[in-house]
Amino acid sequence: MMIPSQSYSFNGIVVITLYFISLFSFFLHTLASPTVHRCRHDQRDALLEFKHEFPGADMNFGRFDNMRSWNKSSDCCSWESVTCDAKYGQVISLYLLGANLNNTLKPNSGLFKLQYLQNLTLSGCNHSGEIPFTLGTLSHLTYLDLSFNKLVGQVPSTIGNLTKLRYLSLSINHLSGKSSVSFANLTKLIQLDITENDFEPELIPDMSRFHNLEEFWGGNFFGPFPTSLFTIPSLRWVNLGDSNNNFTGHIDFGNSSLPSRLFYLSLADNNFDGPIPESISKFLNLKILDLRNNSFSGPFPTFLFKIPSLQWVTLARNNFKGPIDFGNTWPSSSSLISLYLADNNFDGQIPESISQFLKLGTLDISNNKLQGNVPGCLLRLSSLQLSHNSFSGFGKSSQVLDQAQMQVLRLESNSFQGPFPHWICQFRSLEFLDLSNNSFSGSIPLCLRNITYSLEVLNLRNNNFSGILPDVFLNATRLYTLDVSRNRLEGKLPKTLINCTSMGLLNVEGNKFKETFPSWLGSMPYLYILILRANQFYGPLYHLHESTWFQHLKVIDVSHNDFTGSFPAFYFSNWLQMTTLNLEIDVVYYEYSIIWDDYGYHNFRPYTSSMEIVHKGVDTEFDKIRQDFTSIDFSSNKFYGKIPESIGLLKGLRFLNLSGNAFTSDIPQSLANLTNLEALDLSHNQLSGQIPRDLGELSFLSTMNFAHNNLEGPIPRGTQFQRQNCSSFMDNPKLYGLDDICRKTHVPNPRPQELEKLSEPEEEQVINWTSAAIAYGPGVFCGLVIGHIFISHKQEWLMEKFRRNKPRVVIRSAR
Ligand SMILES: *[C@@H]1O[C@H](CO)[C@@H](O)[C@H](O)[C@H]1NC(C)=O
Ligand SMILES: *[C@@H]1O[C@H](CO)[C@@H](O)[C@H](O)[C@H]1NC(C)=O
Ligand SMILES: *[C@@H]1O[C@H](CO)[C@@H](O)[C@H](O)[C@H]1NC(C)=O
Ligand SMILES: *[C@@H]1O[C@H](CO)[C@@H](O)[C@H](O)[C@H]1NC(C)=O
Ligand SMILES: *[C@@H]1O[C@H](CO)[C@@H](O)[C@H](O)[C@H]1NC(C)=O
Ligand SMILES: *[C@@H]1O[C@H](CO)[C@@H](O)[C@H](O)[C@H]1NC(C)=O
Ligand SMILES: *[C@@H]1O[C@H](CO)[C@@H](O)[C@H](O)[C@H]1NC(C)=O
Ligand SMILES: *[C@@H]1O[C@H](CO)[C@@H](O)[C@H](O)[C@H]1NC(C)=O
Ligand SMILES: *[C@@H]1O[C@H](CO)[C@@H](O)[C@H](O)[C@H]1NC(C)=O
Ligand SMILES: *[C@@H]1O[C@H](CO)[C@@H](O)[C@H](O)[C@H]1NC(C)=O
Ligand SMILES: *[C@@H]1O[C@H](CO)[C@@H](O)[C@H](O)[C@H]1NC(C)=O
Ligand SMILES: *[C@@H]1O[C@H](CO)[C@@H](O)[C@H](O)[C@H]1NC(C)=O
Repeated sequence: MMIPSQSYSFNGIVVITLYFISLFSFFLHTLASPTVHRCRHDQRDALLEFKHEFPGADMNFGRFDNMRSWNKSSDCCSWESVTCDAKYGQVISLYLLGANLNNTLKPNSGLFKLQYLQNLTLSGCNHSGEIPFTLGTLSHLTYLDLSFNKLVGQVPSTIGNLTKLRYLSLSINHLSGKSSVSFANLTKLIQLDITENDFEPELIPDMSRFHNLEEFWGGNFFGPFPTSLFTIPSLRWVNLGDSNNNFTGHIDFGNSSLPSRLFYLSLADNNFDGPIPESISKFLNLKILDLRNNSFSGPFPTFLFKIPSLQWVTLARNNFKGPIDFGNTWPSSSSLISLYLADNNFDGQIPESISQFLKLGTLDISNNKLQGNVPGCLLRLSSLQLSHNSFSGFGKSSQVLDQAQMQVLRLESNSFQGPFPHWICQFRSLEFLDLSNNSFSGSIPLCLRNITYSLEVLNLRNNNFSGILPDVFLNATRLYTLDVSRNRLEGKLPKTLINCTSMGLLNVEGNKFKETFPSWLGSMPYLYILILRANQFYGPLYHLHESTWFQHLKVIDVSHNDFTGSFPAFYFSNWLQMTTLNLEIDVVYYEYSIIWDDYGYHNFRPYTSSMEIVHKGVDTEFDKIRQDFTSIDFSSNKFYGKIPESIGLLKGLRFLNLSGNAFTSDIPQSLANLTNLEALDLSHNQLSGQIPRDLGELSFLSTMNFAHNNLEGPIPRGTQFQRQNCSSFMDNPKLYGLDDICRKTHVPNPRPQELEKLSEPEEEQVINWTSAAIAYGPGVFCGLVIGHIFISHKQEWLMEKFRRNKPRVVIRSAR
């Protein structure tokens, strides 16, 4: 974890799309060439013994060789990863990073015969089991890095014998017990990292004894602000963020002089409250300040911005309030690159004085109460996120546009109005544009085609744009979300959309598009979600059922249009994505890029793309979290004929709405094969025959609606049926057995006309399909002085975390 010496920083914003993360990125480190001195035989034998304890040790990941070169025919001092003492040939350093030590380290391991070891790195080695107590015998160790493995159990107290240790990292393992055991007596430590383990919560010990401490990454601590830490003059880097800390109370730096070299301070994700003390501005070398996600309050901490070195600040997710005010002291933090103020209660306008922060690259003020114009100088940033405020316009943008580097522009949910801001067409690096939920009007300009090459997300939802959707997508090969829903667009969908080969979500709901079914969209290889709802599309659903079209479709909503036609029996036979039960496919592929800023912070508010599906009469328990969903909504069109039996092949289907059409004949028995079905609406058709009894066996099926058909016979007995509302069976004159169901609602034996009345007040219910945000909070995972490997490690680890917390689909009933 702690790999000093190399300095690495991101140049600009790096965008890493999930799919392109190389598993082995952290093996890219090139090793220093080994020294060439005669190896002592006892040392050689110990090394080989150690190697043989790990059967996979010869495996070569990427460019990383590690232990492959270890054999008797060569000088052990020339082996990869091994460094010997120049004079006596004793092994003094073993540097195994990313080796395949896929086993437990035994107390009698050959490793412990290397009694002269000073530096030991076993990091990212997939190393499991407990740390053996014999580690305490390596009494010359000054550097010990066991990070990023799968170590478990308590840290043996013998580690306290390693009194020469200056660097200790145990981070990213599953160690338990009390962490302080591991370091309490190691007062010579310069760097200490115990984060991301399963240690039991503990009061942080008195840190003032660690006279040389420069870097401290603490985890699983609680209690008041650790003032003792800030009495250490050498302190440079403090991270008490993330990692299950739960500190409370006010920040209190005490009365002693503050460590003047401190340049990194993270207190994120704790329960600190109160104002930030003005004394913080005495950290004259502070570069990075992370106070995210606490309960800090008070006005905007103007004094903070007197710190000249400050580059990266987040005050997001606290209770700050009042106007943003940088004061008029000059020079102020003119090094500032990123400023995050989101999710507070700031109000007023963004002061023009923000322009004095010449290097500012990222500004996130989302979700406050700001208003007025957005200063034009902000348009030169690379990431500007102002969503969920009350901004209404833009100041003069002057010349800054010439060098525009904007990559992320999020203005959603404000009070902007007027025409599409044309200067956006000059942002040739723009990847993410969200103008949704404003009152922009007029046409969508053709000049957009100048920037669609780089665009990945374009969201214009819920504005007043009118006219046609112009043909701007010829080069939009990276675009994976296009949402122009709820505007007043008309005409046909532009044919250049076909060139959007990355498209995953296309939503044009609630416009006035008028044409036949755009079946050519079916050639987009990754289209998962297609929403054409509430337009004036007409004619049959050509090609939808053909095996080579719409191969990845998982959600289709063509409801409330003028589609017509009947469906042949085999219609659903080729809908591959919906026939599978293994629903591990990443529906969310199109949703997220991870954007890192200069410091490797996750520079992006979680993005939510939501679709709403109005579904008549379906009572829901949709407040569940789903990994995935599939849905077909053909409701309120003019389809007719038999519902095809092949519908029973769509085993992954969760939601089926065919209501409000003119389907006739029987309900297909095969519906009972849809074992994942949660909601079924067949109401308002001309269906006849009996309700298939086996539908009662579908254990997830919580809501059904058969009202307004010509169904007959008994309502099946199953509990799924008995749980339905009375109204779900309305207006089927020959259907009987309603008594039990309707009694639930305290309506004794309703007569048909009463039933009709009962069904009247039933409102259209909005089912809100929301693809939820990435579930984990952004974390600290790199810094200025840390090497490349370190960053890659953390990224790898983060990706792990990401995979575990896969973005999920939340289906919510909006009632
Ligand atoms: C790691 O060990 C496990 C269990 O012994 C084994 O199944 C797996 O194949 C090993 N992996 C590697 C990469 O050696
Ligand atoms: C031993 O390692 C050297 C490289 O260090 C290699 O050239 C040689 O082939 C290896 N010998 C055996 C027997 O594996
Ligand atoms: C041991 O680690 C320290 C601290 O990183 C470093 O300065 C020193 O060069 C290392 N020694 C060897 C032999 O690798
Ligand atoms: C890590 O070990 C686990 C079993 O312990 C194994 O399944 C996995 O493949 C290993 N991974 C690597 C990269 O060695
Ligand atoms: C090492 O630590 C253990 C337990 O803390 C202690 O009993 C033992 O005396 C120590 N050994 C040395 C050589 O200091
Ligand atoms: C620290 O050292 C003291 C005195 O040598 C000893 O009593 C105590 O047990 C040690 N604590 C730990 C956690 O090793
Ligand atoms: C953090 O501490 C506060 C106050 O002691 C407590 O109410 C809260 O539940 C704790 N949170 C966690 C996650 O442990
Ligand atoms: C941008 O688009 C407009 C309108 O389509 C066009 O006139 C102009 O030439 C384009 N600018 C560049 C630099 O291509
Ligand atoms: C689209 O890409 C082609 C080839 O890369 C390029 O020649 C053309 O100018 C681009 N068109 C627009 C509108 O950017
Ligand atoms: C756009 O798609 C059409 C049809 O697939 C193809 O012929 C054309 O080459 C594509 N144009 C570009 C610029 O990719
Ligand atoms: C349901 O599925 C089973 C097995 O997949 C099949 O044998 C049966 O015919 C299907 N039932 C209907 C009514 O389609
Ligand atoms: C849909 O759900 C999201 C997330 O809970 C919420 O923010 C949004 O307001 C909801 N939309 C409607 C129409 O209820």
